[in-house]
Amino acid sequence: MNDAATRAKVTLTMDGSNRSVDLPLMPGTIGPAVADIRKLYADLGIFTYDPGYGGTAACESKITYIDGDKGILLYRGYPIEQLAEKSSFLEVAYLLLNGELPNAAQRVEFDRGVVRHTMVHEQLRRFYDGFRRDAHPMAVMCGVVGALSAFYHDSLDINDPEVRRISAFRLVAKVPTIAAWAYKYSIGEPFMYPRNDLGYAANFLYMMNAVPTERWVENEILTRAMDRILILHADHEQNASTSTVRLAGSTGANPFACIAAGIASLWGPAHGGANEAVLKMLGEIGHVKNIPDFLARVKGKDGHARLMGFGHRVYKNYDPRAKIMQQTCHEVLGELGIKDDPLLDLAQELERIALSDDYFVSRKLYPNVDFYSGIILKAMGFPTSMFTVLFAVARTIGWISQWKEMIEDPSQRIGRPRQVYTGPVQRDYIPVEGR
Ligand code: ACO
Repeated sequence: MNDAATRAKVTLTMDGSNRSVDLPLMPGTIGPAVADIRKLYADLGIFTYDPGYGGTAACESKITYIDGDKGILLYRGYPIEQLAEKSSFLEVAYLLLNGELPNAAQRVEFDRGVVRHTMVHEQLRRFYDGFRRDAHPMAVMCGVVGALSAFYHDSLDINDPEVRRISAFRLVAKVPTIAAWAYKYSIGEPFMYPRNDLGYAANFLYMMNAVPTERWVENEILTRAMDRILILHADHEQNASTSTVRLAGSTGANPFACIAAGIASLWGPAHGGANEAVLKMLGEIGHVKNIPDFLARVKGKDGHARLMGFGHRVYKNYDPRAKIMQQTCHEVLGELGIKDDPLLDLAQELERIALSDDYFVSRKLYPNVDFYSGIILKAMGFPTSMFTVLFAVARTIGWISQWKEMIEDPSQRIGRPRQVYTGPVQRDYIPVEGR
């Protein structure tokens, strides 16, 4: 790219006089270029305004690329469809963390590294007793994952690359154990210790579903479905929770604290909580015949009703993950012998009607990853309160990869947005008797 092409000139008119500033244009390998506005305040004395950051790049990243108009999602350049079909979650985890697919030896070593860290400190078990049995498992996740920083003091020096490497292993390995125990605690069953002879997804299903009194038998189709769900949720560039992890990490906070912050951010129904909200919504609609009434409420914005599992800040086309999810949904229901699932019928009809409704078409609202994931997870026996937890288990590798990339970026500074202040101008304090 020549120099002229890498510079954009933005002319602003202020106070009736023309003042101009040259903003360097940063090209990406794909996707739109980004205007570097760092010198705008120094040159013109103004900030930019972008609530929700819809038009602002907060970092440079080599991890994940999304083309929301075309419905493309790439991890380190590889299309999500190929990874979901041909790869495994731990291989994808290696890819996200290290930038390349592992060779055979690297893959064995990486898997072994994760397996070595699946147990949590025994004392951490007692934390669970402090929670109410009916606590939302995401509340337990925020608390227990954050508490890991109190146990791994040797993992707190973020400037040491070896510490960053081990922290990544610890988080990816322990989060399924912490999540499964949150579930076991809520139903009053004994905690199942991780089994390192099982694969990552199988071990998670084992810790969720096994009991000490019975032999647990792995179902390979369900293991594969779980592995695929983990791959689909592993990273999604600078979404709310990832940005939260980066912002927390920009202060130098330790990785466990940063991931706990990410979990808190993921919890909301506009983000990771949407899969839980989809099932709740389907339950409320109840029957295909009620769909028109429900959609009328959504379109009338009555009580802020939204079609959960539809719409995305970036995708203005079908979310590629939703397509794979829909196919996985059919596989799982087939394996479990569920021929007619009323929830699936309802969801498919809802999708069909919404996709031919001008309200949704004109706003480019398509199903997102969460529209079908809840149906699969419910069929697999997960309670709805665990859906977002599962998302957190999968996303941990994305968060830690993005955190690591940020720490290793020499241009990284503490995250500190600006504001346009619209409050009172300076005024003098009035004693209470004078107010
Ligand atoms: N149902 C009905 N209307 C919607 C929906 C929806 N699901 N999503 C957006 N809209 C409408 C808005 O009301 C707005 O309409 P208007 O222009 O007439 O006011 C327009 O579409 C644009 O919506 P915004 O809120 O500006 O879009 P934004 O990019 O801020 O929101 C979001 C994206 C939060 C995902 C939104 O689509 C939503 O709430 N969806 C439902 C929740 C959901 O499924 N979240 C999961 C996202 S994927 C993930 O995190 C894994």
